[in-house]
Amino acid sequence: MYVLGIETSCDETACAVVRDDGPAAADPARRIVSHSLFSQLREHAPYGGVVPEIASRAHIEHLDGLVAESLSAAGLKLADLDAIAATAGPGLIGGVMVGLTTAKTLAWATGKPLIAVNHLEGHALSVRLAADVPFPYLLLLVSGGHCQFVAVEGVGRYRRLGTTIDDAAGEAFDKTAKLLGLGYPGGPAIERLAKQGNAARFELPRPLWRKPGCDFSFSGLKTAVRLALESCGPAPSEQDRADLAASFQQTVMDVILDRARNAVAMFDGTYGAARKHFVVAGGVATNAALREGLVALAEKSGMHFTAPPMNLCTDNGAMIAWAGLERFRLGITDSLEAPARARWPLDPQAEARSGAGVKA
Ligand code: KG4
Ligand code: ZN
Repeated sequence: MYVLGIETSCDETACAVVRDDGPAAADPARRIVSHSLFSQLREHAPYGGVVPEIASRAHIEHLDGLVAESLSAAGLKLADLDAIAATAGPGLIGGVMVGLTTAKTLAWATGKPLIAVNHLEGHALSVRLAADVPFPYLLLLVSGGHCQFVAVEGVGRYRRLGTTIDDAAGEAFDKTAKLLGLGYPGGPAIERLAKQGNAARFELPRPLWRKPGCDFSFSGLKTAVRLALESCGPAPSEQDRADLAASFQQTVMDVILDRARNAVAMFDGTYGAARKHFVVAGGVATNAALREGLVALAEKSGMHFTAPPMNLCTDNGAMIAWAGLERFRLGITDSLEAPARARWPLDPQAEARSGAGVKA
């Protein structure tokens, strides 16, 4: 079974073909048949963040070529595909429309089924593309638009345990990077600079620290970073900036690990301590300090820790193709009327409980 996947919800134009090689795959890496990605970083860099209109236009310019490239690298024709999947939200609506409309057109022209994938489900299931992690598992989804703990009960079955009440973790990295004069995206730049810094130099607030539950709050951190930078005088040195990057990263890690301890207890309470899989996904999951902290926490809690390979943590086409394949295997397909959605929570019930924003 071959599924083509298209991702256009933010600033990566991506396309991939994945295949189903049976439930007990000998080599999960073989599931990705081809994988093409155009990163729009250079287009957005001068503006210090993603400009939606520029993103939509770049998706239009690059997507057709990427689809052709993915098929040819896979040695397949459109007729060889079993289904066509695309991100249908949440995300920047112009970009989502470009990818979804392309997928609908291909599905209509070939008579193949369409699968409208929730981008968050793509992140949530991405780990199963590279490793056979069984349901249910505890997922920490940390990206530029999301920061939440989710119990992944099965395909299409998600229970949110906690979420950010303001900024996402990746957003906090991006905003702090901007304050420190680093480029976009901020996460990798902060991680690099932090290696040269002293994480103990600046005391920054740890929102919701030691409070019950596993919600997050990061918006106060941004102001604290600004004030700390101002305290260094009119021309902060390279060392000041490195110390601040290290202190910021350490604070975010401390908060995430504090929240993760509660999330593990909540997950155990519902699913039983025998259900022992902890998964991290999303762009921030490429951060080595975070991975190390989570590995140690999982070990202490007697859980198996699994993270997708680095290139499957940030936005990509393979995770969308894979989520499409997992749905298709269960007989779930969508009509050509499937809407593009700017907002689309993984757990609609949880969304009603909080006013947290949704952005891919
Ligand atoms: O999952 P993703 O590619 O896109 C969204 O769906 O949001 O995540 C992008 C986010 C950005 O905010 C970026 O700064 C952050 O992931 N990020 C990192 C690192 N690499 C990317 N944050 C911390 N450390 C990193 N190494
Ligand atoms: Zn994403």
